Parts: sequence; C-alpha cells; structure tokens
Amino acid sequence: MASQRHKKRIFSGVQPTGNIHLGNYLGAVKNFVKLQALGNEALFCIVDLHAITVWQDPKALYSSIRELAATFIACGLDSNKSILFSQSQVSGHAELAWVFNCVVRIGWLNRMTQFKDKAGKNKENASVGLFAYPALMAADILAYHATHVPVGEDQKQHLELTRDIAIKFNNDYQVPNFFPNPEPIIEETAPRIMSLRDGSKKMSKSDPSDMSRINLQDDDDLIALKIQKAKTDQEPIPEDVPSLAKRPEANNLVNIYASLASCLPEDVLNEFNGKPFSFFKPKLAEIIISELGPITKEINELMEQPDEIDKVLNDGAIHAREISDPIIKSTYEILGLTNNCK
Ligand code: TYM
Repeated sequence: MASQRHKKRIFSGVQPTGNIHLGNYLGAVKNFVKLQALGNEALFCIVDLHAITVWQDPKALYSSIRELAATFIACGLDSNKSILFSQSQVSGHAELAWVFNCVVRIGWLNRMTQFKDKAGKNKENASVGLFAYPALMAADILAYHATHVPVGEDQKQHLELTRDIAIKFNNDYQVPNFFPNPEPIIEETAPRIMSLRDGSKKMSKSDPSDMSRINLQDDDDLIALKIQKAKTDQEPIPEDVPSLAKRPEANNLVNIYASLASCLPEDVLNEFNGKPFSFFKPKLAEIIISELGPITKEINELMEQPDEIDKVLNDGAIHAREISDPIIKSTYEILGLTNNCK
C-alpha cells in the first residue's frame, strides 16, 4: 500500500467523571477553544467508555455526560465549528480498541504510570479495562486519523504509546503511514496545574480534598476561600522565574495567574515581585472568578435545556461516524476481516 499523507485533524477527550476543575480547563479545554478559533478541523469527545474503567453510578454518569457537554459549550466550543460527541455513541472506538489490544504489548502497558497511580497497591483487583485504557485512548485518536492531540502533560506517556501502537500496526501489516503519528499539543503555561494543598501533586478530580482544586461549578465565595487557604511559603513573590524552582506552591499560583491573564510567568513576577502572597491571592481569586463566573452561569443555564445538549451530542456522533466508519472498514480489510457473506 502506498504511504498515506494525513491532513491536520485535532482530537481530544475528557472523562465525564465528576467535576471539571481548573487543571482540566487551563491544561486542556481552553486550548481546545484556541485551536477551534484557528479554524482547525477538530473533534472533542466525552470519553464515557474510559469513565467505566472504574465503577460509576449509572444515573450520575448519565448526568455527568450532559454536564460535560454543557461545560464544553459554555467554555466556547461550538458544535457548528467542531464535532462534540460522546465516545460510547460511536462504536468504532470500541472496535479499534480491540484491534489495538492485539497490537499493544503487555510490557508496554506495564510501564504506564497512570495505571500504577490509579490501581494503587491493589493492582490485582483493578479492572482489565483500567489496564488496557491506553489502547482505547489510542483508538479514540487513530479512529479519526487525528494528527494533533491537545492534552495536559499527564497524558504525554499515553500519547507516546499511541504513536508506538500506530508504528507497530503500520509495520506489522506493511501499510506505511496508514495510521498517523499524532503529536501532543501541550499548553505552555499550564502543562500541569498542581493541587492547592500540595505543590508536588497534580490538581485532580480524585483528590479526596475538595480544597485541593477549583471546580468549574464552585461559586465565587468558595473560589476566594480555596485560594485564600491555598498552601504557600513565607517568602514574598520573587523577581525571576528560576527563584520559583524550589517553591512548587508559589510556582503553581504564579502559573495559574499567567495562564488566565494570557501572559508569561515573568510578566506576573514583574508586576508582583516583593509583594507577599496575602496581597497576591485576592488578585488571583479575582482573575479566576472573572473567567469562570460566566462559564458556570452558562453551564447552569444549558443544564436547563437537556434536549438541546442531546441534539448537539447526537449530531456530533453522526459526523464522527462519517469520519471513523471508513477508517475502521479499511483497518478490518488490512487485517483480513472482510465480509465473506455478501
Ligand atoms: P482527563 O479526563 O483526566 O483530563 C482531561 C484533560 O485535562 C488535562 N488535565 C490537566 N492539565 C493540566 N493540569 C492538570 N492538573 C490536569 N488534570 C487533567 C488532561 O491532561 C486531559 O488533557 N485519558 C484522558 C482522556 C482521553 C483522551 C483520549 C485525551 C481519553 N481518550 C484521546 C486525548 C485523546 C484523561 O483521562 O483525561
């Protein structure tokens, strides 16, 4: 087969598990909106099949899927410009994931740090789905021959595995460049937003302390309180970025500010150097509230119109299938899985 060229296509996904937080927003969703504004062909997916790798209450999951769709729209994703849909409604994801389960090596999956973190000490009791999760993630991306994937830094290892799977499939079946080698797009100022309680841990939905994160649904008072209580050190804001290297909590707050103000950390230091955190924190709370407030309001309004949300997701799934169906069909043909019973 002749080597294929791939046109630029963006794909990314977010799990509909509980609250979307500032890390998801600054590390991923805000970047999706920027890429959409540049006129890229893009698919943004609610990865509900990933969510069930750990048990989910069905009613809560159903509502979280709608809420995440509302969040996408409230953050600025537009179903007239990008394809917004949920993973379970496009069967190609699960079909290609099975194919990739047969390509990926157990040794490769064993190296995935996210599995180690999520499974914890009780690895034997984790679902096979949680272990095989990166093969499904590779299928999400490659079912659309996507070339670019905006994600936070924590997903970089899964992206590298996606590339390894693509290369192995192309080599094993002698189909040069059939699957592209997708590139991660990682936001410079917010590659990894850290917990507000511990600057060495990333901000995460699964952290038992709600004070460790800002949720998109938090009201203004709660945001102000969480920032006021955020862990910092005794030193004032330094003059230059290298001085933040050994101050993870201070570094995190400066990065959050820079990301929201669309400037560089050095610009934030120029403005605030020498000032104590007691001065900086209310300014930080202010900028977070002014960005998230209108989003939260719109999420709540959209949640009052579930039919509208369902329509966006249904239309999105139809468009997504139009792209992925021929790619899955070609994949099956490459594998020799053609229909003999015509
Ligand atoms: P998920 O749902 O955990 O997170 C969604 C996106 O948010 C980013 N992110 C962060 N960025 C900066 N700082 C943080 N503290 C932070 N926490 C989360 C994540 O990197 C991600 O971009 N496996 C993925 C979902 C997925 C996917 C895909 C992504 C499934 N298939 C295909 C891209 C392409 C995940 O669990 O993301």
